[in-house]
Amino acid sequence: MVLNFNQEVQSARILSVGAYRPPRVVPNSEIIERIDSTDEWIQQRTGIQSRHIASAEESLIDMAEKSANIAIARAGLKNEDIDAVIFATISYPFQAPSAASELIVRLGNPSAAAFDISAACAGFCYGVALANDLVRNKTAKNVLVMGAEKLSDFTDPDDRATAFIFADGAGAVVIGPSEDIGIGPTIWGAAAESREAILLEPSYLEFKNNPGKLDIGWPNISQQGQSVYRWAVYGMPTVALRALEAAGLTPETLDVFIPHQANDRIIEALVKSIKLPDSVVVAHDIRTSGNTSSASIPLAMDALLAEKPELYGKSALLLGFGAGLVYAGQVVELPFKPNN
Ligand SMILES: CC(C)(COP(=O)(O)OP(=O)(O)OC[C@H]1O[C@@H](n2cnc3c(N)ncnc32)[C@H](O)[C@@H]1OP(=O)(O)O)[C@@H](O)C(=O)NCCC(=O)NCCS
Repeated sequence: MVLNFNQEVQSARILSVGAYRPPRVVPNSEIIERIDSTDEWIQQRTGIQSRHIASAEESLIDMAEKSANIAIARAGLKNEDIDAVIFATISYPFQAPSAASELIVRLGNPSAAAFDISAACAGFCYGVALANDLVRNKTAKNVLVMGAEKLSDFTDPDDRATAFIFADGAGAVVIGPSEDIGIGPTIWGAAAESREAILLEPSYLEFKNNPGKLDIGWPNISQQGQSVYRWAVYGMPTVALRALEAAGLTPETLDVFIPHQANDRIIEALVKSIKLPDSVVVAHDIRTSGNTSSASIPLAMDALLAEKPELYGKSALLLGFGAGLVYAGQVVELPFKPNN
């Protein structure tokens, strides 16, 4: 049998971005005592001055819903126009059903296709790649890509290696049909022999299999900071350059660089290795948002567009990397300025 269907592809682009940061701002001064650190050390090593932390009452889905509503309204769409939701997260506290399915109920759109992806800090870029392919192949028309994390639930406030890095927030984009190609090819992959470099452990099963053992501890993120740092700084420039080349751009013709906001020193090192000229605007949202894993790129995108509206519609290199270890990068055209 030969299947017969229209294989003409439909170009896609980011139609809009929306972001939500919980209102509570936590400066370094509030966390240094428990980890025997200083504001100066944290700023020097990471660039982080403060971060947003959600309250106990504010769930991951509460934050995701707020950013989704903004993104959908800015796209000039209604919630029911979204026919697929891809939710990138590592901090949804249920194995099943998915965070995406909880979100579509909140959005009053419970019949949209909905699923989660687990690609940690690369999750948003993985989601953009999938959404682009869904729209290009007409499997979906308007896809909401969500990156949301409540990492404060899975960070040990006494861990000197992580307590100052991770934070909370949600960012979303709507990806839909476009006359021109608005999303370039995705360069992605993994270095999973370094799987242990960032872990969220112990697993829930540890509790079930060890009844009564009280010292197992809550699952928290642990990381080998120096290994992650070296991998990002030495490995990611090649990925960035391949993504640029695949989209037909060079460092000189790029407008904006929005890497995962892992550490300001990593960002500076990437800018140097890729040899980005001063004309390229670089996102440094980490300074006031911390590392929000899958949420960091859409949060940084939203902040840049709010601060510099002249960047609407410009080319941007997105580069996500993190636990797995996994990575993904692609060049996109930033959304056009919304009418509302
Ligand atoms: C986490 C990170 C900031 C730590 O910086 P580092 O330079 O590697 O720190 P080290 O663990 O080697 O420790 C260096 C020194 O600082 C001290 N130190 C470690 N944590 C500290 C803290 N929170 N506050 C103050 N001092 C600290 C150590 O004791 C050590 O002191 P010593 O030289 O007297 O022995 C850095 O490794 C990093 O950013 N890695 C990448 C992490 C990342 O981006 N993760 C997200 C990926 S998605």
